[in-house]
Amino acid sequence: LLNQDTYLINGELKKWEGQTTPVFSTISSTDAYGPTLLGSIPFMGEAEANEAVQAASEAYNNGQGLWPTMKVADRIKCMERFVEQMKTTRSEVVKLLMWEIGKSLGDSEKEFDRTVEYIYDTITSLKELNTRSAFFSKVQGINAMVRRGPLGVVLCLGPYNYPLNETFSLLIPALIMGNPVIFKPAKHGVLLISPLLEAFRNSFPKGAINIVYGRGREVASPIMKSGKVDILALIGNSKSAIALQDQHPNKNRLRLILGLEAKNPAIVLPDADLDLAIQECIAGSLSFNGQRCTALKIIYVHESIAAEFNKRFAAKVDALAFGNPWEKGVFLTPLPEKDKPAYIQELIDDALVNGASIINEKGGQTTPNAIFPAVLFPVNKAMRVYHEEQFGPVVPIMTFSEIQEPLNDMAESNYGQQVSLFGKDITTIAPLIDALVNLVCRVNLNSSCQRGPDVFPFTGRKDSAVGTLSIHDALRSFSIRTFVASKDN
Ligand code: G3H
Repeated sequence: LLNQDTYLINGELKKWEGQTTPVFSTISSTDAYGPTLLGSIPFMGEAEANEAVQAASEAYNNGQGLWPTMKVADRIKCMERFVEQMKTTRSEVVKLLMWEIGKSLGDSEKEFDRTVEYIYDTITSLKELNTRSAFFSKVQGINAMVRRGPLGVVLCLGPYNYPLNETFSLLIPALIMGNPVIFKPAKHGVLLISPLLEAFRNSFPKGAINIVYGRGREVASPIMKSGKVDILALIGNSKSAIALQDQHPNKNRLRLILGLEAKNPAIVLPDADLDLAIQECIAGSLSFNGQRCTALKIIYVHESIAAEFNKRFAAKVDALAFGNPWEKGVFLTPLPEKDKPAYIQELIDDALVNGASIINEKGGQTTPNAIFPAVLFPVNKAMRVYHEEQFGPVVPIMTFSEIQEPLNDMAESNYGQQVSLFGKDITTIAPLIDALVNLVCRVNLNSSCQRGPDVFPFTGRKDSAVGTLSIHDALRSFSIRTFVASKDN
């Protein structure tokens, strides 16, 4: 059992002696998948929230604190120290990624390594940005020396599906730009922060990074209500983002960096390479059981090839291996959110009542904490699964006869992150791309949707995102351009 009884405030690792809340894993080492007690985490409240805000705002001290005034080269040294120590925690963090969120061994290792690489790339990018920023430009006899400065206190809230990598894609750039950070891990994926606490404490000056635990309403709300947060950095759902934003007494001063919901479609044109389209649509819709904001959440197939596509797609889905994350060759794993199987079942039932069928044999079979992916066809707009972001193992398929149909649906959608387009004829594809780039932010040609490589801009239109994250963009998102202007004398 891992009892997470330590938290980090103002450079001090504090022992928690109050109430704790148990943490369960949805996976088990036996064949009977079921809740296994993993440990416990502190159940914090307003007092600790206030302590964290106080520490972060003192560290910022209206831009005069040690961290925001530290030279970029020295902040980089702190980050290098951190990442070196972090690397020694790999096996423990990977194990916890498997146990806490049910991510397969390969994907857990990938998440850890990607995060380490992300930190190194951020350091390199900041060095380049700093060199470029120090550049003098002269306009109308005035010299300008531009630099990038911090913005203030950041509240960082990451998602459960990438509790390390995505959270760090906010936390690392926020911190390295000189902003003190308050970080509250997501509900699933708290324990895996334990092995990193020492590394944080040893690498950064006091108050630069503060880590607290608990429920959003108990901890994040008082932090926002204090009015001392300058940036809300959140990857998760828009409901929480709006609620937190509304609690800030001076919303106009609050900068938002948000990664929110998406309903990324795949569009399969009549001349698509079906083997490739099926392979990519499976990876896109079902990697990590569909629990990715970039997952393909609806597939539009041209009516002329739908029968063939469906038959082959369904067979391939049924062949996917389900098991515990550490088992060899496993693709589908138990779901960490205990209400998720019931929610997915609701979507399936609703679709069945409204005229769809489950077209794969194993679709919808359940164990206590998992549901085998159900491929639903034909899906229509009367169904909840058409509108809701399922974030789980159910794949809705629709047909279209004219390309304008999926385009119109995308235009009406509240989301606008990415799309996958499968086809060969460049004379059809080229004008389509022109239309699609005005509906989403990334068009994936003959490939599934994804966030990486991390140097590519990661953002979305409408309700899908506010601000842009990528190695380069995040450094800009978490800072402000300032400059010194001087006249030639
Ligand atoms: O949940 C959304 C993640 O950003 C997905 O990231 O495309 O790298 O799996 P990924």
